[in-house]
Amino acid sequence: MSDMKQQMAQTAAAMVAQGKGILAIDESTPTIKKRFDTIEIESTEESRRSYRELLITASGSEEFISGMILFDETLRQQTRDGVPFPEIMVDRGIMPGIKVDKGAKDLAGHPGEKVTEGLDGLRDRLSEYRDLGARFAKWRAVITIGDHIPSNACIEANAHALARYAALCQEAGIVPMVEPEVLMDADNDIDVCYWATEKTLRSVFNALNNQGVALEYTILKTNMVVSGKKCSIQACVQEVADKTVRCLLNTVPAALAGIVFLSGGQSATLATAHLNDMNRRYNNLPWPLSFSYGRALQEPCLKTWSGKAENYDAAQAALLHREKCNSLACLGQYTDDLEKAA
Ligand code: 13P
Repeated sequence: MSDMKQQMAQTAAAMVAQGKGILAIDESTPTIKKRFDTIEIESTEESRRSYRELLITASGSEEFISGMILFDETLRQQTRDGVPFPEIMVDRGIMPGIKVDKGAKDLAGHPGEKVTEGLDGLRDRLSEYRDLGARFAKWRAVITIGDHIPSNACIEANAHALARYAALCQEAGIVPMVEPEVLMDADNDIDVCYWATEKTLRSVFNALNNQGVALEYTILKTNMVVSGKKCSIQACVQEVADKTVRCLLNTVPAALAGIVFLSGGQSATLATAHLNDMNRRYNNLPWPLSFSYGRALQEPCLKTWSGKAENYDAAQAALLHREKCNSLACLGQYTDDLEKAA
C-alpha cells in the first residue's frame, strides 16, 4: 500500500475508533449567525473565533472526540494565545477536518430542490487545506422531501458531485466524509424518509463506484431514518434504530470504513438515544456506527455560554457531557440516568 493510502486508512479508522466520534463545528458564516441570533450575540470574526476556541479547547474532549470539522475561516484562526487551531487539536490527538463545499444552491428547473456547489478549483483548495493540517473533508448534499420530491434529477446531480469531490479528496490524501442529508423538516412519516434515504444512498454508492472512489478510505455521514418534524406520528426510538439499520444494510457496501450520523434537528438527547439503541441491539454490523453531530453536541453548550466570559467553564462542561453521552452511545452503554446526574 502506498504511504498516502496507508495514512488515509489510518485516518478513516481513527475517525470511527471505538467510543469516538466527530464534533461538527463547520457552520458557514450565515449559519453560525443564525445560531448566535438565538443567544443574541453578534456574529463577528472575533466572536466566532472565541466560541470556536471554547469548543476546540474543552479539556477531556480527546477521550470522546476523534476529529472536528472546521469551516475555512476557523482552520486559519488561532487561540487567544496565538496557537493555530489545527496545531492545538493535533497536539491533543484530535484530527482537523474541513468543510469544502460551497453550499447548497437552487437546482435549475426543480423548484424546492438544491444542488451543492464547489467542485471548481477544489483540487487546489484541497492541496492548501492539507498543508494547513486537514486530514479529512466534508461535503454536504441536501435532499428535500415534499410533493413529488426528491426528484431523480436532484438525487443524481448531488450524488455525482459527492463522488467527484470524494475522488479529488483521495487524490490529495484526504479522507472524504460523504454527506447526503435527507432533511427531516417536513410532515412526512418515517417510511417516506426510509424511501428517500434508500434511494439517495443507492445513487451515492453507485456514483462513488463510477468515479473509482475507494470505500476503505471513505466515511459516510448520513441522516437517520426518522419521522418528519411536522408529522403528527413520531416513530419511537426502537423504530428509528431498526429502520435506519435496515436502510444502511440494504444500501451501504461492507467495505466502507465507517458511518457517522448528523443530528439534523433532533434534540440532543434523542440523537444520543437513537445512536445508542442501534449500537446496543446491533453489534455485528459491517461498519462502526458513530456520530458527527453539530447541533446535538453544541446546543446545550451554546445556550450555557450565551457569549458571557463567566459561563465559559460551565459551557465547556455542557459540551463535554454531550460528548461523553454520545461516546457511550457508540458502545451501546448510554442510559437516561446520565442526563439526570448532569
Ligand atoms: P447537525 O448535527 O446540526 O445536523 O449538523 C451536522 C452537520 O455537519 C451538517 O452538515
